[in-house]
Parts: sequence; structure tokens; C-alpha cells
Amino acid sequence: MSKEHEIRKAVVPVAGWGTRLLPATKSQPKEMLPVGRKPAVQYVVEELQDAGLHQILFITGRKKSAIEDHFDSDPELTKLLVTGGGYALLDELKYLEAGTHFFYIRQSIPKGLADAVHLAEDFVGSEDFVVALGDSIIKSSDGNCFLREMVASHREHGSACTIAVEEVALEDVHRYGIVKPGPLDSSDYGFEVEDLVEKPSREAAPSTWAIAARYIFSPDIFEAIRRTYPDSSGELQLTDSIRLLLQMGKKVCAVRLRQGQRRYDIGNFESYFKAFIDFAVSDEKYGYLIRQYLKRKSNEF
Ligand code: UTP
Repeated sequence: MSKEHEIRKAVVPVAGWGTRLLPATKSQPKEMLPVGRKPAVQYVVEELQDAGLHQILFITGRKKSAIEDHFDSDPELTKLLVTGGGYALLDELKYLEAGTHFFYIRQSIPKGLADAVHLAEDFVGSEDFVVALGDSIIKSSDGNCFLREMVASHREHGSACTIAVEEVALEDVHRYGIVKPGPLDSSDYGFEVEDLVEKPSREAAPSTWAIAARYIFSPDIFEAIRRTYPDSSGELQLTDSIRLLLQMGKKVCAVRLRQGQRRYDIGNFESYFKAFIDFAVSDEKYGYLIRQYLKRKSNEF
């Protein structure tokens, strides 16, 4: 693949209201809530950096300035750590030294994910790009970068859109965008997508494969977004725009999260608490103690 066809840019939407996490999100972004040691959105950025993406555009909004501060260098803090003998803690700021350029555009009123992605049109220009939701972490227990697998599939199939999917329980399909799979691809970990439905009932769900917070798009998505009608709540849904891509005759493929790969969506308290517990029990330093604590506690439940 020639240099100009490399995927170098990523868009991270973080402008949503986060109402399901009130009051925790009254004055702070949900994407900055800690999961284990780091704010959720830092895992997202590190995943993008792992995949070689070093131009990152945040679609941000009101009450989200903590995200800009988190990804900006802080000479005073660095000086404090150096002069105060806190050298070891300097390692905690290494994520700022990966040579990544951060950009910001504001979505003043969150009018849906497709509206947020649309704002990235000038930033991405004629290049294919990644969209990674800022409130969802993808963890691979074997350390392999799932996004790299998506990029490989996107290139191999010449797709206009590649979607991450994970299998969910039938009783949960109403919470997700669900895809209708076509035939498996040669690698056996992906398939062509025939259709998508946003939050279907159990009866209407074409499968239990849910869209899992990561996408790769060609710039064709912007034309599809322009043709997308708002849903009943007035929001532009990205699932509807991808559906339009299919109707425009474009190829849409899915790559499946496999065993050992997991998506953590922190958008509601149940999933946020579970994510925090999973990261806490696998913490290098404190995981063992937390596991012992939970074992003791479980006798009281
Ligand atoms: P959600 O679908 O979880 O929406 O967004 P939300 O508005 O943040 O949450 P609730 O429903 O009010 O609790 C998934 C990701 O997309 C971003 C969010 O910030 C989140 O990271 N998003 C969503 C936008 O950037 N703009 C939007 O218009 C909607």
C-alpha cells in the first residue's frame, strides 16, 4: 500500500451528554472517568497510537475541556516531579511523548454520532480514517492490537467501511447496533455486512453481532451522512449512514472480537462498574490485593 493510502488519522467523538452517568458527569466528561489507573479515553488514545495512528481529532463539546488538558504537556507538573524527586512518576506521563498530534473540533449540540463524524470531513480530506468511541475500551489479553487487525482487513477487502463487532446475548440486542452478516471471509474472523439495524427487538434482530465502538471509513461516509435523515429523537445515527453506504453499493465488512478480546463500554453504571473491577483486579501492583478483597467480600453477598 502506498504512503498516501496508509491510515494515519483517527477521530474520537467525546461530545455526548453522558446522561446515563449522572451525577458523575454533571461537570466532567464521562470519557475522563478512571478505569483502573487511567481515564477511559487514555486507553483509547493508546490503542490508536499502538495501531500507528498519530493524528487524532477529538470531537469535543461543552464541559469537555479536561480532555484537552489531559493530552497537553504540562511543564510545571514535569518540573515539580523532577525537582521533588518523583522521577518514577514521570513514567506516568509517557503517553504524552508518543509524537501524536491532537486536534479538537467542537460539536456544540450533540446531534448524534453521524453528526459528530461529519465534523471531521476537512480533517480527514481524501484519506481513509478510524473512528474510535471515546467511552469504549478494547482490551486484548494477548496484547495484540485489534485495530491493526481491522486495518489489515480494511486493506485486504478494499472496503468503504470496516466495523468491529462482538457477540452479545440475545436479551441485550436492543441496546446495540446489530449487523446482518453475509459470508465469512477467508481469514474466518470477519464477514461482509449485508444490513444493519439500530437497537432492534429480539424478534427483529438479524443476528447477535453488535457494533463494537470501532470503525474504519473511506471519505464516502460523508456523502452517506449528508443523505441520512434524523431519527425520531432528532439525532443522526451512524448506523443509518452505514446502511446508506450499503445502498450506495459500497462494501462494508465486519471484524469480530475474538476470545481474549473484549470491549468495555463505560456508558452506563453497570458496564462502568464492571470495567473498573476488571481493570482493578488485573492491576500489576494492586490486582492481587483486590482479588483477595473481592474473595473475602463475596462471602458477605
Ligand atoms: P453515546 O451513545 O453513549 O451517547 O455516545 P452519550 O450522549 O454520550 O450518552 P447518554 O446516552 O447521554 O448517556 C458514544 C460516544 O459518542 C460520543 C459520546 O461522547 C461517546 O463517547 N458522542 C455521542 C458524540 O461525540 N456526539 C454525539 O452527538 C453523540
